[in-house]
Amino acid sequence: MMRRADSDIQKCELCRLSKSRTNAVPGSGNVVDVEIVFVGEGPGRNEDLAGKPFVGSGGRLLDQLMQSAGLKRESVYITNIVKCRPPKNRKPVRDEVEICTSNYLERQLDILKPKLICTLGATALEYFTGETKMGENHGKLFHARKSGIPVLPTYHPASIFRNPPYRKLLENDLRMLPNIIESLGKTSKTISA
Ligand code: URA
Repeated sequence: MMRRADSDIQKCELCRLSKSRTNAVPGSGNVVDVEIVFVGEGPGRNEDLAGKPFVGSGGRLLDQLMQSAGLKRESVYITNIVKCRPPKNRKPVRDEVEICTSNYLERQLDILKPKLICTLGATALEYFTGETKMGENHGKLFHARKSGIPVLPTYHPASIFRNPPYRKLLENDLRMLPNIIESLGKTSKTISA
């Protein structure tokens, strides 16, 4: 099912972003018993060229931070709100977000059924929670509108290059993930008992 979604994304021409892309970037990572799906904003230049998410400098930082939080890239799935690079890395606009998420991101979540979504940056925060202020909302648990999956918002790794003090906040948020997963497991056992 994921392969079918990937190939639909690779061929997609539903919005203007398809016209300027080199490659669409469906996502990468584990697709079986996925615990966490990370959702960024959209591919940048390196991702557009590689067809893979978070392969540039932000991706390398994300790898390091995930490792120090005890998470391996292979045990999570990583994707974005929009699957094609917006020209000059501008923010995706409302209709691009709506078309891409309703056709692809929600379908990916439906197939993967992760226990938790971790949003990276303001675009994904706003899409899943309706909130706009990262400072007030990172590190708090929400439920995703539409799917209801638990969501932990945090900063975008690339934002650390502009604002180094955010690094600590991002690190702390990522360190919460294994504990949240564990406590979600306990809650669902209690409910089904
Ligand atoms: N920034 C994102 O939001 N996603 C990527 O895949 C790369 C950079």
